[in-house]
Amino acid sequence: MNLNLKVNGQARQCQADGDTPLLWILREDLGLTGTKFGCGAGQCGACTVHLDGQAMRSCVMPVEALNGRSITTIEGLSPDRSHVLQQAWIEHQVPQCGYCQSGMLMAAAALLKATPRPTDRQIDAAMTNLCRCGTYPRIRAAIHTAAARLKPQTGKKGAKV
Ligand code: FES
Ligand code: FES
Repeated sequence: MNLNLKVNGQARQCQADGDTPLLWILREDLGLTGTKFGCGAGQCGACTVHLDGQAMRSCVMPVEALNGRSITTIEGLSPDRSHVLQQAWIEHQVPQCGYCQSGMLMAAAALLKATPRPTDRQIDAAMTNLCRCGTYPRIRAAIHTAAARLKPQTGKKGAKV
């Protein structure tokens, strides 16, 4: 089928079987390799992207459901690593091997959008991605640092993340 996707604010077209997972399209057709393959079964979160602003696992998302929907990948989080979470990640030296980290950042960005000042418990509940290097304490610290820097959005639910 012909697909019309909106990825990182740009209209993108490609052809694929409708049941092809979005992750394959992002990496193989669109060259957006920042989103990683881990388990391929919706478990690890390495493939996390945003779909209409919500964190979703792209390895189990058939593209036929996505025509006309807005997708954001790690490449679209900021053009120059200036996103408040990316800066906090660098300061806390969060990554070890780094493989899980783009998915972690996308999950954290969705969390802060919905919950601008999350508690430890809310972070633990929202950040269900897996990290084999055990960077969880640094991830939590970096999310708190980023949250403290967010400007409150008056009159709106959520923060600009
Ligand atoms: S690769 Fe998608 S959840 Fe693991
Ligand atoms: S930093 Fe290595 S898997 Fe998370």
